[in-house]
Amino acid sequence: MAAIVLIGAQWGDEGKGKATDLLGEKLQWVVRYQGGNNAGHTVVLPNGETFALHLIPSGILTPGVNNVIGNGVVVDPSVLLAELKGLEDRDVDTSRLLLSADAHLLMPYHVAIDKVTERFLGNSKIGTTGRGIGPCYQDKIARVGVRVADVLDEKILTQKVEAALEVKNQILTKIYNRKGLDPNEVVDGTLELAEGFKHRISDTRLLLNQALERGETILLEGSQGTLLDVDHGTYPYVTSSNPTAGGAAVGAGIGPGRIDTVLGILKAYTTRVGEGPFPTELFDEWGAYLAKTGGEVGVTTGRARRTGWFDAVIARYATRVNGITDYFLTKLDVLSSLETVPICVAYEVDGERVDDMPMTQTGFHHAKPIYEEMPGWWEDISGCRTFEDLPKNAQDYVLRLEELSGAHISCIGVGPGRDQTIVRREIV
Ligand code: IMP
Repeated sequence: MAAIVLIGAQWGDEGKGKATDLLGEKLQWVVRYQGGNNAGHTVVLPNGETFALHLIPSGILTPGVNNVIGNGVVVDPSVLLAELKGLEDRDVDTSRLLLSADAHLLMPYHVAIDKVTERFLGNSKIGTTGRGIGPCYQDKIARVGVRVADVLDEKILTQKVEAALEVKNQILTKIYNRKGLDPNEVVDGTLELAEGFKHRISDTRLLLNQALERGETILLEGSQGTLLDVDHGTYPYVTSSNPTAGGAAVGAGIGPGRIDTVLGILKAYTTRVGEGPFPTELFDEWGAYLAKTGGEVGVTTGRARRTGWFDAVIARYATRVNGITDYFLTKLDVLSSLETVPICVAYEVDGERVDDMPMTQTGFHHAKPIYEEMPGWWEDISGCRTFEDLPKNAQDYVLRLEELSGAHISCIGVGPGRDQTIVRREIV
């Protein structure tokens, strides 16, 4: 077998944790390749136990699976240790978690800068999660970041932190009128935390390639989503990494040719957290209905998610930019009890019909949805386990989404539980 990429096809929160968990027993490895603890993956086990994961791959909940935080991830060490402790307190075996030596460490000054920058931006803010993700990636690209392996060499760590704080403290004190940070305290704090994760530091790139050579199966678990990608998303209202499938090879250190399946996760309607354009957003009672019925509250920040109808333009776009081979459609059950279910099939931009993503940011900001109405269904579908169990109108809705999105819908989620899934075609 080879590598499978799992990627959010919308603005994140599509239910990726459920998909990873479903595949879990068929996998030998689960790898996070980008983002950090801005992510929140919820997994509900068959016994009803719920886990919210932020940094640690969802495979940690499946016995026997090896888990890797890859080189493309930004790691806040205090969050990592807290998350490990939370899992260990609930008797989850965490011994199979490895951390790439080349992943970047998210330092206290990244969090401080993220928060003050957003405040400073006022109405132009991005609506970040405030976890320091953007500032940490900025340092990576500027080649002044601190990497995980630096905790193994106190001298290097100290040099890097001192150099970083020389600039950051000027920014914090002179531009934002905040207190600077003491480099010695930052170094000591980091080294203390490192005692809790040092033994997990590995050459994960080598281990993953060796695993592929042995014929093992690796799931590359994306966080956020296609429209939050720094290159392909709704820039500047995006995260600072590449969740799209291309980012998976880079963020894990494997060749793109190793990836043979790209599984897109698609919610049966649309949600978004933070600022930025959202053509099908609903401001009426239907928006409130989707939010309430779908439990649309951020796992990481507790922020209410914005809600809207399914947007086939962005789904088609996601299919293309990721090369999606299969879709996992989640939360279909949330749409039960609607008279009709609208689907956005195209946009109207400045008086013209547009079937694909507008080329410019302004075009997307002006996009008005063109809807097609599908007849709804009233039945509770949470107990359906085959496609044929679904009411005819629900089947037709799925088939129409498949046609519009341009990739096969292989799995359908009809409830939060691990077993509340219809598998039309096996992914692995
Ligand atoms: P950042 O990733 O914290 O810099 O936030 C940038 C944008 O991405 C904001 O609009 C966030 O709300 C959004 N975002 C980041 N992580 C997630 C996620 O896991 N789900 C949904 N939105 C996210």
